[in-house]
This record gives sequence, structure tokens and C-alpha cells, in this order.
Amino acid sequence: MKNRVYKNNLGFGLGHERIKRRLGRVSRAPDPRAPAIAFMASSFALSAPSIPSSSSGSIVTRNRRATSTRRHRHRRGVETRASTSPDDGKKKNMTLEERIAAGEFTKKSSTGPYRAVADALRGLVPEDAGPMGRGVSLALARLSRRWRAEAMSKMPVASGDIREIAGQPVFVPLYKLFLAYGEMFVLAIGPKKFVVVSDNAVAKEMLLTQAKSFSKGLLSEILDFVMGQGLIPANGEVWKIRRKVIVPSLHKKYVTSMVDMFGDCGLKGMSQLARSEAANETVEMENFYSRYALDIIGKAVFNYEFDSLTTDDPVIKAVYTVLREAEYRSVTFIPYWKVPPLRWLVPRQRQCQEALAVVNDTLDELISRCKKVVEEEDEEFVEEYMNTDDPSILHFLIASGDDVTSKQLRDDLMTLLIAGHETTAAVLTWTTFLLAKHPEVKAKVFEEVDRVVGDRNPTVADMRELVYTTRVINESMRLYPQPPVLIRRALEPVTLGGYNIDAGTDFFISVWNLHRNPRIWDEPDAFKPERFPIDQRMPDEYTEDYAYLPFGGGQRKCVGDQFAIFESIVSLAMLMRRFDFELDESKHPDGECGMTTGATIHTTNGLHVKLKRRDGKGGDEMSGTYTKGAMLSNLEDVDVVRGSIDAPSASSDEDFDDRYAEDVDESTSEKFERAKRIVEEETTAGSNSEEVGMSR
Ligand code: HEM
Repeated sequence: MKNRVYKNNLGFGLGHERIKRRLGRVSRAPDPRAPAIAFMASSFALSAPSIPSSSSGSIVTRNRRATSTRRHRHRRGVETRASTSPDDGKKKNMTLEERIAAGEFTKKSSTGPYRAVADALRGLVPEDAGPMGRGVSLALARLSRRWRAEAMSKMPVASGDIREIAGQPVFVPLYKLFLAYGEMFVLAIGPKKFVVVSDNAVAKEMLLTQAKSFSKGLLSEILDFVMGQGLIPANGEVWKIRRKVIVPSLHKKYVTSMVDMFGDCGLKGMSQLARSEAANETVEMENFYSRYALDIIGKAVFNYEFDSLTTDDPVIKAVYTVLREAEYRSVTFIPYWKVPPLRWLVPRQRQCQEALAVVNDTLDELISRCKKVVEEEDEEFVEEYMNTDDPSILHFLIASGDDVTSKQLRDDLMTLLIAGHETTAAVLTWTTFLLAKHPEVKAKVFEEVDRVVGDRNPTVADMRELVYTTRVINESMRLYPQPPVLIRRALEPVTLGGYNIDAGTDFFISVWNLHRNPRIWDEPDAFKPERFPIDQRMPDEYTEDYAYLPFGGGQRKCVGDQFAIFESIVSLAMLMRRFDFELDESKHPDGECGMTTGATIHTTNGLHVKLKRRDGKGGDEMSGTYTKGAMLSNLEDVDVVRGSIDAPSASSDEDFDDRYAEDVDESTSEKFERAKRIVEEETTAGSNSEEVGMSR
């Protein structure tokens, strides 16, 4: 059984920095806990590559004075770290909120008195003041906008000793900074800058109205190794073409047939849980949901039986190695894997390369097998085409005659596998956690599930009836959005929220902040499914005016939203029909399970629950009918920490593997030698630079 060790969430090893410094791209951080701060956390990623215009100066229109003041403040931050001023001790005892309030992290700018006056006057003009009043109101609004645009030069900048707020998942400090500095501010870490957006109107501009002005930026760079030109990282023409091809594959008939498949997988899953319950074992639900969702997405995307709920096999292991690496790269500051020899010298990277080869071989095999089947079948390809024996997306794509390279097809499949797997597993994990903490909500779900579904498998028609269960999931996705941050890069100069922003600027749209913005939500941190009434439309970006973005919005909105919602409802309904559950107090003495940052929000030490059968509910699956293989407790941990910022890296305690170097040809081994020398030299070398981050 797993026992994850939660390290301090700060640590990629020193080795990264040394290697990178040797390559001349990064100056030395004075503290090995450098502030990857998990900025590099988020959605499906981000890391630290280039930030075009910002390294030389501002990313937004600003005046000279403001820039120099900011620089001065940053320097002061460094001096603070180097010195042992009496303030240091005092600061250590202050909470982050107190330190933000004391102005330690930023110089908050004023929007100017004129704008305040204009806004106040505008408020005084009555709404029914006739054409003249409207004219005055309009003029004042224009003035207010102009002053605001000028004040762009003073967009709040969070900078300075930001590294000290590390040690927690990135979206948590970002939330605190948002409360202090408002719905748009610049986050500056050394020469790198990001605009953090927590304003729903600005999010709407970026995702909907001005979507064409943005790319996925850092995300595309990070995910290239695994998703290539798949739909999530793709930009421009490739994205447009692939989206047109893939969206039709998730048609209504397909999603309906998937509901039956969710039921079949659900029975297997429940059977496994019943075995654990009978053996009086606590179940780690994050592990369970991860395997369960992998089985589902394997069937849905390429008709492959992972059978990961009862077995550990090399393909499953390879998939997890690749998934964790994608997460790890998204939270790691220095992309050392870009140095070719290190891809093989660093054990973690070598394992990743090997795992990628296993996954790619499997995909190639599935693709060629499917091509043969399609060649032999004489079904006509019509709208909503579906092969009943194999309704998978792969089958649809091949049957559609889509003229595409095998590499592109593999990229698409890999993207769907990753996008549709951990997200749903995370939603189910956090929903289970919230329900375990809220018996009154749990009771209502029991009632609904018993009334609507009973012991049979849920159907598509049930999806409309399980309204309260759906609201529970909606509210869970508000509190724990997967991913918690979306990443974008401006392709051209843009104006947002009245600010003029340079091309090349990187953005974090903090979905976590939007979903907990106190301006928008009552009791934003409370779990209240009733906030979304059951007699109204299911909440989405339209009903909540872009303040609620569980599946994003605009042209890059999730293509699997309905699939995912149905999967979550079916899974939860099947679980709740059969089991009551509570947190295992011995594992969660404070009633919490902690958060750690990967591509999605993971728990820190797993979600351990005690299951209890609900008297006689459920069918044969409750006596272990579907499970022949290993019990859950005998399967390997899905090891979420491997993908988080806590994961071991190319640090001094993870040496290069010399044995491996012997197996390679001469030119490669020369590269190994060179890379080894670099690392060895760096182990002893030092640098006096105090700057954090990388410059290019
Ligand atoms: C509860 C589960 C899921 C959640 C919370 C979720 C969330 C999201 C979000 C927020 C985005 C937008 C990312 C951005 O704008 O940067 C997205 C995109 C995407 N999702 Fe999902 N997703 C889920 C399930 C799925 C499933 C099951 C599939 C496929 C079967 C899928 C496939 C995709 C794809 C391909 C994209 C990229 C679309 C594009 O850029 O055109 N997702 N997802």
C-alpha cells in the first residue's frame, strides 16, 4: 500500500540548476529551493522557457519611473535574503497575508484620483436621466477608460522575494496575491513575467472574443515530447484542422454508447471495492479512480483493455511513467531534458524515453490493427458513424478516411488519453473527499441514486434525472478545477481590462481564483451544491459569464465535456448506491488530505476512505464476480508525487548511470562524457549571481 512522502514542494534538485548554469542560461539561485514555485504548475503545464519581451523590460505599457522602481524593489528583495537584518526574524513569523499587506511583494499602483472621481460621478447619474444624462454618463465612462489605460503603466507587480511563498501548490499563493493585488497583476520572477488573470470579463476576452490573439505558449513547448501536435498543445492551422476532424468523433450516439461502457467498467470497479471492503481494508481512492479512469479512456479512445484495476503490466507502467513525466516537466523550472545526452543519462529521463517507446509501439500496433479491420468492413461512413463492436474514437478517425500521418494520429490519441484520464480521476477524487466531509450532502445523493437508478446500470436517460448528483459534481469542479490554471501567450499586442499588453506575454488564467473570487461567489470556499439550482440549466461558462470554467470556454473548450460529466455521474451513482464511506482518521487526522501540484490537483498523501456496504444494495458484483486478478491493495501506487514538484530529479542524489553509457555507440558516449563533465564541474563550481530564473 502506498505511503507517499510529502516533501517540501520546493525541490527540484540542485543538479538541474548546475547543468543549466553551465549551459549559460540561468544564473545561480542562492537557495536550492529555487522558486520554480510551481509557477510552472498548472493546467496541462508550463515550464520556464523563453519570455520574449519581458527579459528586457516591461510587458505592459509602463513609464520609466515605474520600471526603475520595480527593479529597485527586486534588488531589495535579493539584499534582504543575503543580509541578516532584524526584519528577517520578524518576517518569518508573519503570515503570507500579513507580508502581502505590508507591501513586501509588490508596489501596488494607484489608478489615479481622476478615475476615482469619474467613476463616482458616473454612479451619481440616474439611469433614467434621458439622452443628456446618458451622454454625460458615456463621456465619463470614456474618461474613466482612458485614465485606466494610462494607469496600465502601473499594473500591480508582484515581485521581490516571491520564492518565500513557495512550499504550497502554485494556485494557493496566486490566490493570496490576487486578493491583495486585484484581478489582473504581473507576476515577476527574476526576468520572467506572467500576467495573472482572475477577472471573468478578461477571461472571456481571452478565451472567446480575442481567442485568436493567443496561443498555448509554454504549454506547447512542454508537452511536445508526449503530445506533439495533438489538440491540446497544437496552435494555428494544425489545431484548426485537427479540431474539425476530432470533434465529430464524440457525437451523440458515441457518448450514449459510452454510458453503457462506463456502467460495465463501474461494475468491475465496484467489485474491486467490495473485495477491499470485505477484507476490511481502507481504500486509497485516488489510486483507485486513476486506474478506473485509465480503463475507461483506453476503451473509449482506442478500444484497448488496460485492465489496470486488476493488473500491473508494462504498458500500464509505461503510460504512468509518461503521464508523470508530462506533469513533472510542467512543474519543473529548468528544462534540462532538452540537452540530448541528458535524456539518456538521467535515469528518470531514460525511463521516460523507454516508456514512450513502449506506448508508441502499442499505439502503432493498435492503429495498424484497426486499419485492417476498417479495410475489411463494408460499412458506409455517414454522420454519427459508429462501429458497434468497436465504437472507439480511433475506429471513427480511420473509418472517416482522414488523410493523416501515423505520427499525427498517435499525437491525437495520446492527447485524448491524457486529457481524458487524470482530469476525470481528479474530479472523482475531490468529489469523494467533499462528500466524505459533508454527510448532509451525501444523504441527498443516496436518496436520489436509490430513487432514480437502484441496482441497474445508469442510462443516458438517468443523466437528466440525477440532477442533484450532477450539481455535486459541478460544485466539486468549482472548488477543485482540473486544471486549476490555464496558460496562454499573446501572439500580438492586445488590450485587456484597459491595459495594453505586448505580444509574447505569458498569461495564467487562474481558474482557481475565478472559481473562488469573493466578488462573484457567496461563501466562495464553502461546498454548497445548492448554489446551482437543480431546476435551472447546468452551470457553464455561459450561465456564469466566464466566472465558471471547469471545461474552459470559447474555441478551445474541452471536446470531452459531456463524456466527462456522464462518466463522473455514472461512476459516482454506482459508488453511492453500493457504499457509504468516511475518511480514514488514522490517515487524515485533521480531516484534510492536502493538495499538491501536478497537471491536475492531486492529494498530498492519497485519499484513504473506509467503505461500508449499504445494506444489501448492488448486485452480483458485490461478491467479487468480475474480479479475478489482484486486489487493489496489491497493485502498485500510481505515484502521483513522481509528477509533482516534489519528484526526484537530476540532482546529486540521482547520479548518471555509467552502465548505460557502455551500451551506446562512440559518438553518443562522447556526448555522455561531455554531459558528465558538465555536471561534475558544476558540482564544484560556484556563482555569485543572486538572480533567480533564466535569461535568454
Ligand atoms: C472532468 C474531466 C475533464 C475536465 C475537467 C477537462 C477540462 C478541460 C479544460 C479546462 C480544457 C481547456 C484547456 C485550455 O483552454 O487551455 C480542456 C481541453 C481539452 N479536453 Fe478536456 N477535460 C476533461 C475531460 C476530457 C475528456 C474525457 C476528453 C477526451 C475524451 C478531453 C479532451 C480535451 C481536449 C482534446 C482538449 C483540447 C481542446 C482544444 O484545445 O481544442 N477532456 N479540457
